Amino acid sequence: MRDLIQTPDTLNATLLGWYDVHARAMPWRVPPQARTAGQMPDPYRVWLSEVMLQQTTVAAVKEYFIRFTTRWPTVADLAAAQDADVMGEWAGLGYYARARNLLKCARVVVADHGGVFPADHAALLTLPGIGPYTAAAISSIAFDLRHAVLDGNVERVMARMYDVHTPLPAAKPDLMRLADALTPQARPGDYAQAVMDLGATICTPKSPACGICPWRDPCQARALGTAPDLPKKTPKKAKPTRSGIVFVARRADGAWLLETRPDSGLLGGMLGWPGSDWVDTSTPLPDITPPISADWTTLNTQVRHTFTHFHLQLEVRTALSRQETAPLRGQFIPPVTFRPTDLPTVMRKVFDLARGQF
Ligand code: ADE
Repeated sequence: MRDLIQTPDTLNATLLGWYDVHARAMPWRVPPQARTAGQMPDPYRVWLSEVMLQQTTVAAVKEYFIRFTTRWPTVADLAAAQDADVMGEWAGLGYYARARNLLKCARVVVADHGGVFPADHAALLTLPGIGPYTAAAISSIAFDLRHAVLDGNVERVMARMYDVHTPLPAAKPDLMRLADALTPQARPGDYAQAVMDLGATICTPKSPACGICPWRDPCQARALGTAPDLPKKTPKKAKPTRSGIVFVARRADGAWLLETRPDSGLLGGMLGWPGSDWVDTSTPLPDITPPISADWTTLNTQVRHTFTHFHLQLEVRTALSRQETAPLRGQFIPPVTFRPTDLPTVMRKVFDLARGQF
């Protein structure tokens, strides 16, 4: 790690000047000129956007954000929503625990805080699904409290500015201290968004655009030519592969046999096709009773999907079931109410493959 020649005041003045011109437009953001004129963003929108943006890009989030805020314009509207509706709108964004915590958090804000997000970092940290990153992001962006945000973009910018070679995740505490030392008392919310925008648009992982960077002069990695190699990362373990079986049954009236997955565990609370547990490929596929008695066909093609910690391959079995046969699990959902967009991505892949059989 190397010290910088410029003072934090000079550095953040340069960055804020850049942000005043280049801030990206986002549906939840108040542009810097309007903020300086006294307009602040709605904390509900800041919270929702930050939860959506965890592990996801701005481009992927925009449409989801607009759909959510059109359907539930306030935290009270969201708190009053049906769980299945919220999980359905979240489908495709992944990391479904975020959506379950989103609802819990909205309900706590309404029940315990009168429907108003607390303008207090410690109080925000007590809310479901709000960890150190999100609490800092809401504190600074929604309330202009001085808290440093450290997401992947900010980690990269700090590692390069100070030429930090310690690999991630071990470097996080150092990078947090550096990020904190640069965060100004004035305009901390714009500053937080400015570093994130810099990381997303200029200080990018591959081929950073150092030539147009507002911090090109003080940046140590730029001076030493190490920028493209930073931050260093401890190699990840190879992902194991798991396999399982899913059953897609349809009745002559067009209804599909679906079930809501248990709240705990992967894809918890989401709509899905009944199926087996997912087991490591080194063990045989589980012996499982189909969810309804029918003449089942196994498709030649398997569905593949990658989660954070493993690859999954699913054998798909389909059957046309008789109108009068009752299922052992799940419920038949008529075609008028079934929205394939309510399915999480892996279950949507199963549907896209299986639908051709009916
Ligand atoms: N990534 C996560 N939150 C962000 C924000 N508020 N601005 C820019 N990028 C972000």
